[in-house]
Amino acid sequence: MKKIYLVYISLSGNTQSFIRRLTSFLNFHSSLDLDVEEIHVKDLVKEAIPYYALDAPFVAFLPTYLEGGNGLDNGDREILTNPLGDFIAYEGNDKHCLGVVGFGNRNFNHQYCLTAKQYAQRFGFPVLDEVELRGLNQDIERVGQKIISLLENRI
Ligand SMILES: Cc1cc2nc3c(=O)[nH]c(=O)nc-3n(C[C@H](O)[C@H](O)[C@H](O)COP(=O)(O)O)c2cc1C
Repeated sequence: MKKIYLVYISLSGNTQSFIRRLTSFLNFHSSLDLDVEEIHVKDLVKEAIPYYALDAPFVAFLPTYLEGGNGLDNGDREILTNPLGDFIAYEGNDKHCLGVVGFGNRNFNHQYCLTAKQYAQRFGFPVLDEVELRGLNQDIERVGQKIISLLENRI
C-alpha cells in the first residue's frame, strides 16, 4: 500500500470540493494500492500543537488569496492561506512535497494562481497544475493522472 497525503486549505469550499472528488478518483482509478489521506490545514490550526512532520509524500493544494499588487511588478500580499505555507515549512515537510496545485479565478489576470508559483519558487518544488474555482471533471482526471504517474515513477 502506497501512502499519499493531499494537504490543502480552503476558505470558501472550492478547493475542498476538488479534494473530495480527487480522493474518489484516486481510490477508484489507480492500479497502485493507494492510501489517500486528506489534511485540511484550516482544521489543524485550531489544535494546541497544530503542525506535525509527515512521513510520506504529499501534494499541496493552494487557493490564491492576495491583497494588492497586479501580479507583475508590484507588491502583493498573501492573506488567509499562510498556514499552508507554515505546515509545508514545518520540520522539513517540504522535502516530501511532490508539487503544488494552484487554485484561482481567471478574472484576476496576471495574479491567477500566483501564490502557487510563489510557493514553488520558495520551496523548490514544481507547480503541477492550475485549476479554476472548483474545477471540472477533466481537471480532476488530469491532476489525478499526474499524481498517479508521479507515484508510479517513485517505485
Ligand atoms: C479576497 C479574495 C482574493 C482573491 N485573490 C485571487 C488572486 O489574486 N488570484 C486568483 O487567481 N484568485 C483569487 N481569488 C479567487 C480564489 O482563489 C478562488 O475563488 C478559489 O477557488 C477559492 O478557493 P477556496 O474556495 O477553496 O477557498 C480571490 C478570492 C478572494 C475572495
